[in-house]
Order: sequence, then structure tokens, then C-alpha cells
Amino acid sequence: MAGKKILLIIGGGIAAFKSLDLIRRLLESGYQVIPVLTKSATEFVTPLSVSALAGEKVHQDLFDLNDESQMGHIELSRAVDLVVVAPVTADLMAKMAHGHANDLASTLLMATDKQVLIAPSMNVRMWEHAATQRNLAVLKDDGILICGPNEGGMACGEFGFGRMAEPVEIIAAIEVALNEGPLNGRHILVTSGPTHEPIDPVRYIANRSSGAQGTAIASALLALGARVTFVTGPADVSPPLGVDLVKIQTAMQMLDAVKAVQNVDVGIFVAAVADWRIVNASDQKIKKNVDSLPVLELSENPDILSTVCASKMRPTLVVGFAAETQNVVKNARAKRQRKGCDWIVANDVSPGTGIMGGSENDVVLITADGTEDWPRMGKDHVARRLAKKIAEELN
Ligand code: CTP
Repeated sequence: MAGKKILLIIGGGIAAFKSLDLIRRLLESGYQVIPVLTKSATEFVTPLSVSALAGEKVHQDLFDLNDESQMGHIELSRAVDLVVVAPVTADLMAKMAHGHANDLASTLLMATDKQVLIAPSMNVRMWEHAATQRNLAVLKDDGILICGPNEGGMACGEFGFGRMAEPVEIIAAIEVALNEGPLNGRHILVTSGPTHEPIDPVRYIANRSSGAQGTAIASALLALGARVTFVTGPADVSPPLGVDLVKIQTAMQMLDAVKAVQNVDVGIFVAAVADWRIVNASDQKIKKNVDSLPVLELSENPDILSTVCASKMRPTLVVGFAAETQNVVKNARAKRQRKGCDWIVANDVSPGTGIMGGSENDVVLITADGTEDWPRMGKDHVARRLAKKIAEELN
């Protein structure tokens, strides 16, 4: 990304201090940063510190005649590769969603012909407020890229979603936005990891999925330029930087999260979803009783893959996985038909194979045209091969 130019608009929030670190790291990665400060941002960081770090003049005023003669706000908004707003406040999001252009930042955001990436930062109540969530939906629909916010403790002392994403996460999102690979402009949904189905507040039903294959697939798709929404259960491996991350625990939550994702070109369902949930899960820890054993009443979880395949929102290409312990190809072929997906990646997860929870995979790819038996290889290698095949299929 060396030499790419970022127009960095710093909004007025306490997280503005992190933007100084963001500038430093962007420069270290070879980017050029053109900084813009909103009026309220100057309450948190000084133009001098921003300018000194960026090595550039800081733009602050819409009606700066000197600037207009050299570079007008229209040109400023376009002479870059990407516009990044970090932090973006609830107020600036509202302005963007409603098309206000009454200061330099909002005018640049209206005038630009480049992609815009925002990193929200605000109090948890403000983030969860219906107005902010409405504005967020509008911005997503307008094609604005969103990074974060993260969950955690805040400067105001409250806890929840609202912390600005860390500079490394914002840089990963910038790299994804600027990546011109064959999957550029494609939005891919990946489900990954196990689900946990609670028995009571301290116990749950789970499976041995580590999330390694789903994570490797998300990374391989990012590397080819895709935008990836990654819906993951409680996995052992960390999610890749640069994805739109949605963390869930149960199959029902995974289904809700998947249904909420809009405009998906490809869906890849790698998650090892629990087939059953406990309907009589207890709110309190179940105590041992000398006279009787607890009876767990199971109910079947909805099939997320089948639901997506049958829905009006079905992506152009849907890839399922099949975890089998016997008659792998025969069972997986039947699964492809039953669930209505285009491709199915079948693997033998018998304990002797070391595949579930391990670092290698041995898969057969089943499509409408037949089967491809891939040799045993690392999960990251399987991921790269699958991502390449998806790119070929779409292009
Ligand atoms: N899947 C899903 N929702 C479920 C169960 C499975 O989306 N409730 C998806 C998985 O992510 C995978 C595919 O369906 O892409 C097959 O999952 P698998 O566990 O192999 O099959 P099951 O449908 O659970 O069938 P069985 O356990 O009988 O093999």
C-alpha cells in the first residue's frame, strides 16, 4: 500500500488521541496522511501535534480562502485513495446519514468520490440509541465501510460497545478497502467455530471445532480483496483483522446474526453448529441432587445453511461444509442436495484423522459438476485454494 493517500478526518471524541497513533502507524506502513480536524476534535488533540505527526498541513475550515486558491475542498476530497473518519462521533454519523454539509468534514464527505471508512466512538447508550442504529443502517446501505466499535470499558466509566477500534484494526480495514484483488467489491459471509448451547449459567454443550478452517478461509478471502462478514462462535483461534466481526454463542444467535447481514455475494458456512439446544436450560446453576439426575430436554436447532439457501436473500454462491465420520462423499452429496447449497466441502472428522481441532484438512469438493478430491494439506492452504476457486467462479 506504499504511497497510498488517506484523507483522515478526526472527529471530536476522546478517542481522537488514538488517531495520533493511527497516523504514526499509517506513516510507518508507507501511507501518506492528509489530516482534517473538526472544530470539536481540536478540544481533544491539537492541530500542531496532528500536523507534526502527519508531516502535512492540517485542514480545519471550509472557508479558508488561502486553501481554496491552492486546493479547494472538492479537490481535497478526491485527491486521495480513501477517506477515513476516526473517530466518527454520533453527531458526524447523523450528518453523514442526512447529507449535511455545514463544515469542512461534512462537506468533504459529501463531495468525495472515494470510498469512506468510519471508526465509530461514543458512549454505549449513544451507540445503542435507535437514532444511531438507524443512521448506521443508512450509512451501510450507502456503502460506507464500518470498522468497530469494540466492546469494553470507556472513558466515561461505562462498559459496552462504543470504544473506537484499535489503530491496527483500522489499518487492517484500510488495507482491505484498498486491496484490488479479484474479489474486490464482493461481500462474503463466513460462519465459523462451534456454538455453545447453555445447560445453565456455567455449563454448556459444545463440539471440538477450533474455528481454524473458517478463520483461514476469511483470511484468504480478505487477501483477495473481499469484504468479509465473519460470524463466529467461541473459537480457539482469534478472528482475522480486517473482517466485519460478529461474535455469537448459540445457534439461534448465529441464525439471527446471519439473517441481519445484507447484500451478500457468497455465503460460506464453515461453522460446526450444534444440532440441538436445551429447552429447559436453567437460569441458576443446577445443583447436584442425591436422589435424581437432571433431565435435559433437547430441541433441534434451525439449519442456518438451509434457511439461507431457501430465502429470498440467497447469495449467488453458497458453500456448505460437511463434517462426516463415515461414507463421506455419499453423505456429503446428499447433504448438498438436501440443504440446497451450490458446493459442499466434505471432510472426514473421525477422531483418527486429527482434522477437527487440528491444523490440516483432507477435503473433497462436491459441486453440481462432480467431485474434486484435494490432497491432505494445511487448513490455510485449503482456504487459499477455495478462495481462488470462488474468485474464478465469480469472475
Ligand atoms: N449447518 C448450519 N446449521 C445447522 C447445522 C449445520 O448452518 N444447524 C451447516 C454447517 O455450517 C455446514 C453444513 O450445515 O455447512 C453441514 O453441517 P454438518 O454438521 O456436517 O451437518 P448437519 O446438518 O448437522 O447434519 P448431520 O449432523 O446429520 O451430519
